[in-house]
Amino acid sequence: MASDKELEGRVALVTGGGAGIGLAIARTLAEDGAHIVVPDFNGEAAEAAAAELKGLGVQALAFQADVADAARMDEVVAATLDALGGVHILVNNAGITRDALLLRMDEAQWDAVLRTNLRGAYVCSKAVLRQMMKQRQGAIVNIASVVGLMGNAGQCNYSASKAGLIGLTKSLAREVASRGIRVNAVAPGFIATAMTDQLTDEQRQGILHTVPAGALGEPQDVANAVRFLCSDASRYITGEVLRVDGGMAM
Ligand code: NAI
Repeated sequence: MASDKELEGRVALVTGGGAGIGLAIARTLAEDGAHIVVPDFNGEAAEAAAAELKGLGVQALAFQADVADAARMDEVVAATLDALGGVHILVNNAGITRDALLLRMDEAQWDAVLRTNLRGAYVCSKAVLRQMMKQRQGAIVNIASVVGLMGNAGQCNYSASKAGLIGLTKSLAREVASRGIRVNAVAPGFIATAMTDQLTDEQRQGILHTVPAGALGEPQDVANAVRFLCSDASRYITGEVLRVDGGMAM
């Protein structure tokens, strides 16, 4: 019987899919029928995510991997093609912060954030691109941040990485549009995650003043935008940056 699931039979690689927003994205794409591959630095989190995703009736593969390690990501993609036969969706979600004011930011903090957030997206995109070109079909979604559009004191490294990711999105979109591959970005604002749970009430109120919608977003809000940009409903959209921020950065 034909399925009415939009992403049935497609293969989605969700980096950092073991936790937080990436896990919400992985679940959402699996609910739409996609098989999911989870490369995560935290191998145990990747395994737990894959076990959960299989419960949704799709195939799921877990890999302990650093997104900035090109040789390892080539292995992950080769193993994916062996097991699942293709790769149609890449969500570059893995990301880290190492916050400090610039004068106190050391080179290790700068390099770690640029390496994971920006080099990681370059490495993973390159790893899947040849296969997507062969298929003449692919959707890449980069998880940026409103901080890449607006800047944020204490996050020069992070905002530079996210602004860089937006530049990468637009340049790669131009390179591969004629091959049937779309490249878009989602820029979340303040999303309720383990990170925002740490905020004091005062900090939370301060943040909410900057958000016209007056509330934090949920990981599912980001996942819904990613689902749209991966689906054929967005077939004529490429090089776009979709803010999911309750109006914060408009
Ligand atoms: P998180 O810290 O909850 O999860 C990130 C996942 O990525 C973890 O499972 C971690 O093990 C994995 N990871 C980290 N470095 C990796 C590497 N080098 N290779 C492979 N996996 C790696 O983070 P969260 O909050 O879910 O963020 C996900 C994305 O959303 C990030 O790109 C972040 O910058 C972005 N974002 C988050 C916002 C928020 O409010 N939480 C707001 C705007 C953007």
